Amino acid sequence: MADPKSKNLTWHEGQVARTDRENLLGQRGVTVWLTGLSGSGKSTIAVAAEKVLADQGRLTYILDGDNIRQGLNNNLGFSPEDRTENIRRIGEVAKLFTDGGVIVFSSFISPYRADRDAVREIMSEGDFVECYVAASLETCEGRDVKGLYKKARAGEIPEFTGISAPYEEPEKPEVVIDTNGQTVDESVQVLVEYLRKGGYLG
Ligand code: ADX
Repeated sequence: MADPKSKNLTWHEGQVARTDRENLLGQRGVTVWLTGLSGSGKSTIAVAAEKVLADQGRLTYILDGDNIRQGLNNNLGFSPEDRTENIRRIGEVAKLFTDGGVIVFSSFISPYRADRDAVREIMSEGDFVECYVAASLETCEGRDVKGLYKKARAGEIPEFTGISAPYEEPEKPEVVIDTNGQTVDESVQVLVEYLRKGGYLG
């Protein structure tokens, strides 16, 4: 963790531990970090996976780039520095939710390997599950659900990931979901199975 600006801070321990919350919920807190190009299917998978788990009585939460950028991170754009700060803040938020015992799905392009690794760093072993939602640029551009690729190609959106800004693929993600050839249901099944096998679901 980067050193705080102020040196005059004291850490306060509570009397309720993370394990108390997890026992209450009958699950283990975790952050499933979905990374991939815009239009790769991150948010769709997050929404569908959350629904499956919620129907099983699990406490879940989605952190989504398009949403968070309208609130907490509404002062950030898409320069490399702003994306790094976006991911840093979300990493901290995800860490808090995970400590709360919640199963978090975070859906951010998070194009820089170093930024994702920094989130992994601040979280405990097993709390951060990197899930690469792999879809080729051709597939994402072909879908162009939000019409942004068209605008980016026309030069109307600068620094657009995959077109005029980089995306660094994960080197060792815990899970890879290939939405070129997998249905949403199949992708969700892979994720839920990973969580079940990992003992996150109690
Ligand atoms: S990240 O790169 O900082 O992780 P984030 O996931 O929060 O990005 O936001 C990405 C979303 O913002 C995209 O799905 C798209 O809807 C929108 N967006 C707007 N401008 C850009 C851009 N220049 N590059 C990528 N996404 C953009």
